Amino acid sequence: MAHSDAYTAFVSTGAGTRIAGALGLPQPVALRRHEAGRSLVDGPVLVGGHGDMPALLALRAGLERAGAPLVDDVPAEDRLGGVVVDMTAVTTPADLESLRATLGPALRRLGRCARVVVVGLDPAGATAPAVRAARRALEGITRSVAKELRGGATANLVLLTPGSEPAGLGTVEFLLSARSAYVDAQVFRVGEGVPTLPADPARPLAAKVAVVTGAAQGIGAEIARVLARDGATLVCVDVPTAGSALAAVANEVVGTALQVDVTASDAGRRILDHARTRHGGLDVVVHNAGITRDKLLANTDADRWHAVLDVNLLSILRMNEAFLDQDGVRDGGHLVLVSSIAGIAGNRGQSNYAASKAGVLGLVDAYATDELLRRRGITVNAVAPGFIETAMTARIPLATRELGRRLNSLSQGGLPVDVAETIAHFASDRQAAVSGNVVRVCGQSLIGA
Ligand SMILES: NC(=O)c1ccc[n+]([C@@H]2O[C@H](COP(=O)([O-])OP(=O)(O)OC[C@H]3O[C@@H](n4cnc5c(N)ncnc54)[C@H](O)[C@@H]3O)[C@@H](O)[C@H]2O)c1
Repeated sequence: MAHSDAYTAFVSTGAGTRIAGALGLPQPVALRRHEAGRSLVDGPVLVGGHGDMPALLALRAGLERAGAPLVDDVPAEDRLGGVVVDMTAVTTPADLESLRATLGPALRRLGRCARVVVVGLDPAGATAPAVRAARRALEGITRSVAKELRGGATANLVLLTPGSEPAGLGTVEFLLSARSAYVDAQVFRVGEGVPTLPADPARPLAAKVAVVTGAAQGIGAEIARVLARDGATLVCVDVPTAGSALAAVANEVVGTALQVDVTASDAGRRILDHARTRHGGLDVVVHNAGITRDKLLANTDADRWHAVLDVNLLSILRMNEAFLDQDGVRDGGHLVLVSSIAGIAGNRGQSNYAASKAGVLGLVDAYATDELLRRRGITVNAVAPGFIETAMTARIPLATRELGRRLNSLSQGGLPVDVAETIAHFASDRQAAVSGNVVRVCGQSLIGA
């Protein structure tokens, strides 16, 4: 069994569990991650909610088809694989009692790495104070429940808009699945838009051409692997000095390698030309390349400042001029930008990095509300990783590293594959109705919570 770190391996042994329990130490469990042929969930999924539960009505058949055995009551024997609570019909905070009544008794029966998915309507769509309060309350409840769960279980919230219930299926399925192992206490918004169901559910990105920047190592290499696993043809981009590692990743995923520094003024055009001539076009762009040059702001010179802003933010702006041009990515394409929890919470010694990663979120807001891009069906979302086990985080001094690793609801760091799975989720045509989302892959990190 793969463990992300030595401590997690230790507490997964019988003696380790007893020692950690006696000392009140965190007890991370090896998370359930995606494997070919693995069932959607481990055990029955309790469904319930408030009123007529209109979202469940729309989702029930799809969830069953995807392999979720739905039950209406907490089973006496089995451990639950998940709980889906439809709270879309709430109109006053008094209605929240339905959530307590459904979820409360179920929490004691959750299996290892079980999933809680609360489904509501977007508060922004309500003007009446009581309705808006009730809808907004779901976020507070979900985030609190996520902090109470143990054994690798997670809780997330899906916000629909009236009429988008069927489009929410892909998101609910992702959150129930092992692909969302390190996604905890997040809010996913599903808007209007017609999702396309893949011909082969195991290869949702078949016939798509995807570019990943910074693909030579770390999270970028894993994104390339997961997108290729899901059927995409890959263009792997990195700097010339990473050429041999880049070629190895490109070979592994049977894609092509392109040595381009993303800060070059013609980087976007070169990537687009390559994708066109070698693969016939471009559908998915993952802006992953990133660097850190950490110093307290008082010690940060203009070079350190500029280098980080240029690689992490300005290059994306420049490249997107080519990618989002009429003859750039094809209609119905998907952009996914890699941000960071530092861009949400701020981080000591990282004002340049946090500036760039917060700026990325600004880009997502702007693109996702761009009328022209909406009409062309192009979605833009961001993934903000928390502590992920990579070469970047291995360089952090031990004490700080242990803090980063444990200070989250799952008491462990995430793996590059966890970030990659969420990116692959946003890159699929099934998520045509999902744009402007910022999702943290952080195990509910306490930093910036
Ligand atoms: N590791 C984490 O815990 C973590 C947390 C939050 C966010 N992130 C973000 O995730 C992304 C990937 O991080 P990682 O940990 O895999 O980092 P990494 O340093 O292991 O890999 C980054 C890759 O980007 C490439 N790159 C750097 N500058 C480039 C340029 N100018 N042109 C082309 N390629 C360039 C590098 O050569 C490298 O292959 C980054 O955007 C990072 O900020 C990482």
